[in-house]
Amino acid sequence: MDGSDLLEVARGAVERSYAPYSGYRVGAAIETEDGTVVTGCNVENANYSNSVHAEELALSKAVEAGHRAFEAVAVSSGPRDGVTPCGMCRQSLSEFCDGDLRVVCEGDGAPVSYTLDELLPETISGEHLE
Ligand code: THU
Ligand code: ZN
Repeated sequence: MDGSDLLEVARGAVERSYAPYSGYRVGAAIETEDGTVVTGCNVENANYSNSVHAEELALSKAVEAGHRAFEAVAVSSGPRDGVTPCGMCRQSLSEFCDGDLRVVCEGDGAPVSYTLDELLPETISGEHLE
């Protein structure tokens, strides 16, 4: 799936966001190695800290469904302001994804793509713990 199509799926997930506290709705779509696309949205909580991020939910749903290899992830928000995955979500993605994972975000007129390595260089991985 190209970046624009994956971003369109992420925009659909924005509509299912539960964000009564921040009002900032986020949607994500992650594409697996076999072409399956799994979505997530942010799900907030009254204690704030239990809030789940959109990318975290998409990744976790995909892992639970048995997927372990990913091609790309797209992220969008209500205002389509070009938000990128936060530091925590970048780290969560790095557990399963190589540095060349495509991260597709909203741009000015066209999607903007990064690699995970650009967004999170030199991070800890399982190799450090061997
Ligand atoms: N949020 C995400 O869903 N993904 C990110 O990577 C950035 C932040 C959510 C969390 C919270 O519900 C709202 O955006 C405001 O931070
Ligand atoms: Zn996050």
